[in-house]
Amino acid sequence: MFHAASRTGREHRTTTVPAASTLAVLHAVSKTFGSGDTAVRALAAFDLTIAAGELLVVLGPSGSGKTTLLNVLGGIEAPTCGAISIDGRALTGLDAKGLSALRRESLSFVYQFFNLVPTLTAYENIAVLAELTGGSVRSRVDAVLAEVGLADCANRFPAQLSGGQQQRVAIARALVNRPRLLLCDEPTGALDLDTGRSVLTLLQDLCHRDDRAVVLVTHNQAIAAIADRVLRMCSGHIVEDVHQTTPLAASEVSW
Ligand SMILES: Nc1ncnc2c1ncn2[C@@H]1O[C@H](COP(=O)(O)OP(=O)(O)OP(=O)(O)O)[C@@H](O)[C@H]1O
Ligand SMILES: [Mg+2]
Repeated sequence: MFHAASRTGREHRTTTVPAASTLAVLHAVSKTFGSGDTAVRALAAFDLTIAAGELLVVLGPSGSGKTTLLNVLGGIEAPTCGAISIDGRALTGLDAKGLSALRRESLSFVYQFFNLVPTLTAYENIAVLAELTGGSVRSRVDAVLAEVGLADCANRFPAQLSGGQQQRVAIARALVNRPRLLLCDEPTGALDLDTGRSVLTLLQDLCHRDDRAVVLVTHNQAIAAIADRVLRMCSGHIVEDVHQTTPLAASEVSW
């Protein structure tokens, strides 16, 4: 859905905007933690529609509700009120079984600190998730490892991989069930510029392939340049929502 534009000056990606299909909808979603004097309103009457193929970067100060947004989108936290749908399926109101099925089939998380199991190899870290949905585990794990450029590292343990490689294993794990929505909380927060850039390049490419969407939360303002859309949050509200027609190629981003 995209091609790299002219190499004169900074490289940008020209997004050929497809007839955007809606992948996720939050309607009037609020999330309050606690009650009474200690209540914290992490999300306040939040409306958001995420289109397939969209790389959405979410910025905002600490405590503004970014992680809470990912957690309600991913079905980890139930909203206090409002409605959420993912990939055409209502998430709010599902029982535990329905929620885990939707989570398994439609979305995945990528975290700052990779969350790989240290005693399992790269292959095994991914296979444990692949096994949840059945089918051919070996071919699916091999395919995602190849997709993130780590076919040769399948038998290495996390401690034998660089930070960037570990994050790519975590992304491969997130992809193995072919989710349409990837929810990433500071995925480059623990990485240096070069490895961070390679992870962002991977996420940008993944987003524009297979009609999926990536929501990427970060404190790093520079990363906003690679987004199709930038959302700024403050105190549980959206304070800015900007679509960028020519996002920067992630390989060119700098900080
Ligand atoms: N489980 C919880 N119990 C109580 N309060 C919570 C809980 N989770 C988050 N909060 C509060 O909700 C608000 C939003 O938190 P959230 O983690 O979403 O912020 P954030 O934007 O991700 O911050 P950061 O950039 O520091 O990660 C904060 O005031 C936080 O203290
Ligand atoms: Mg957070």
